[in-house]
Amino acid sequence: MTRSRRLQSIVDAVGDTPLLRLRTLERETPGVEIYVKLEYMNPGGSVKDRPARQMMLDAIADGRLTRDKVLIDSTSGNTGVAYSLFGAALGYRVALVMPSNVSKPRKDITRAFGTELIFSDPMLGSDGAIARVKEIVAADPDKWFYPDQYANPSNPKAHYLGTGAEILDQLGDRITHFVTGMGTTGTLMGTTRRLKEHPRPIVCVGLEPAEALHGLEGLKHMATSIVPPIYDPSILDEILPVRTDDGWDMSDRLAEQEGIHVGHSSGANVFGAFAVAQRLASRGEAGCVVTIACDRGDRYFAPMKWDRHYVW
Ligand SMILES: Cc1ncc(COP(=O)(O)O)c(C=O)c1O
Repeated sequence: MTRSRRLQSIVDAVGDTPLLRLRTLERETPGVEIYVKLEYMNPGGSVKDRPARQMMLDAIADGRLTRDKVLIDSTSGNTGVAYSLFGAALGYRVALVMPSNVSKPRKDITRAFGTELIFSDPMLGSDGAIARVKEIVAADPDKWFYPDQYANPSNPKAHYLGTGAEILDQLGDRITHFVTGMGTTGTLMGTTRRLKEHPRPIVCVGLEPAEALHGLEGLKHMATSIVPPIYDPSILDEILPVRTDDGWDMSDRLAEQEGIHVGHSSGANVFGAFAVAQRLASRGEAGCVVTIACDRGDRYFAPMKWDRHYVW
């Protein structure tokens, strides 16, 4: 038996997340297993701990991030929480640009770690926050370290070294399909690259919101968004659209039937994995489909309170 973990720093608590089998969903997909990797068990409560940690450690190692600089980035929330807690633990200052309509708890979590917040136009969503951070950095480039999670290779690298390797360790040869949503696309790109190195083929599927104006926070509708430079669709086998309502309904179902209360991008991910599993089962094929639980549902309680009032 392995020992329980004893940590020297909260930075070392990232990764090694559990993989949970979704048995109630599997009743509708005979012969096909469905697993979800519980990324909300990272110390900052989301999948974004992995890239934030990797981007900071790589930048410290090669001198891009020094004590006299302030880390600045745009974030839909989770990456900001991760930068904030690792900044506090490692001794680096952090500033975040976010649309002003992100929930108060989101603002409060990052401020609790001493992070400075700068607000961008809520009508312009996450793309507006990206544009604003670029203006700020261009005005005084020596003051800031801008990791730019949309373009930084350390983002997918975190998932190549972590998420993908852990899934293979947890399931070995069983896994046949990997399905996950696209925001920066770091999770999908890095995990897919690792899974594609496995000797037996593993089908990798990207999910994106079906609508341009959607309520799946953290995910991007590519046709109407700035496409992240790290995104390379050529390594994928398929891209599936997910409707906002299907993601939200699956979040509710996971809480009520599986006992996991997750955010809406996680609902969308499981909906996508379930759709792939149903397709296999309907053809009489066996399979093992893996997806990601990005964060916990309680991150979205206020001010939305699950009332289907979409912020973007
Ligand atoms: C809640 C949530 N889900 C999904 C994603 C998408 O992950 P990735 O950026 O790796 O594509 C993010 C990223 O910001 C997120 O915060």
